[in-house]
Amino acid sequence: MRQPVIAANWKMYKNPAESVAFIREFLPLVEHLSGSDIVLFPTATSLASVCDAVAETRLMAGAQTMHWLSEGPYTGQTSPTMLTSIGATHVLLGHSERRLYANETYEHVNLKIKAACANHLIPVLCLGEMLSDRQEGYTADTLMAQMGAALANFPAERAHTLIVAYEPVWAIGTGSTATPEVANDTHGIIRRDLEKRFGREIADATRILYGGSVKPENVAEMMAQPEIDGALVGGASLDPHTFADIIRNAHPAS
Ligand code: PGA
Repeated sequence: MRQPVIAANWKMYKNPAESVAFIREFLPLVEHLSGSDIVLFPTATSLASVCDAVAETRLMAGAQTMHWLSEGPYTGQTSPTMLTSIGATHVLLGHSERRLYANETYEHVNLKIKAACANHLIPVLCLGEMLSDRQEGYTADTLMAQMGAALANFPAERAHTLIVAYEPVWAIGTGSTATPEVANDTHGIIRRDLEKRFGREIADATRILYGGSVKPENVAEMMAQPEIDGALVGGASLDPHTFADIIRNAHPAS
């Protein structure tokens, strides 16, 4: 059984006060809903406040990106050890907005993912094809290329910590989601690739999240798919009640 993960990607929204106010309102709404791990990814300047606010709660917190080195003359960057020093436990890597707007390549992601593991941060590797890839039949090739670059020389003994987020670029912030069947099939492609790299046991244990316009209305049908182990939520995670509804609807029985 894979413990589901529902994660909030707050992107460039919410200052520290707004982030802490969200947590105060959100926590009582989800305290009794035990079905998933819940991880918040605030913007860099809010992360320390969020880490403090989630300490001693069932929530966890992580960064939206990081550098791979521990320190150095790299203006504007944050290192893995800086993240762990404030209590962050997770890090998003390879989000398509970072690839589109910050020139992040999967070779960078590869360095970062190895650094995350070396520093005991849980990496959430984001993958996803463009609309043209899907229309032209290149979805599997694109995802395999992304996995190959991101996971090159990744230490197999750390593979059990990896979380993968499948986020088709055409579904992010657009309101159009992949159908549950398409998402499930694509997660299957990713899981088979993980099996080739790390073996059956690791592939079976790895949580693969779906991301791209997840809402309270569509999360249940996504989570009902056998290959979908959670959600990475952008826009719909900014309101505490909407995000709590997503967590409630993800597990209709809880
Ligand atoms: P969205 O974003 O839910 O607003 O589509 C998802 C993401 O970018 O992680």
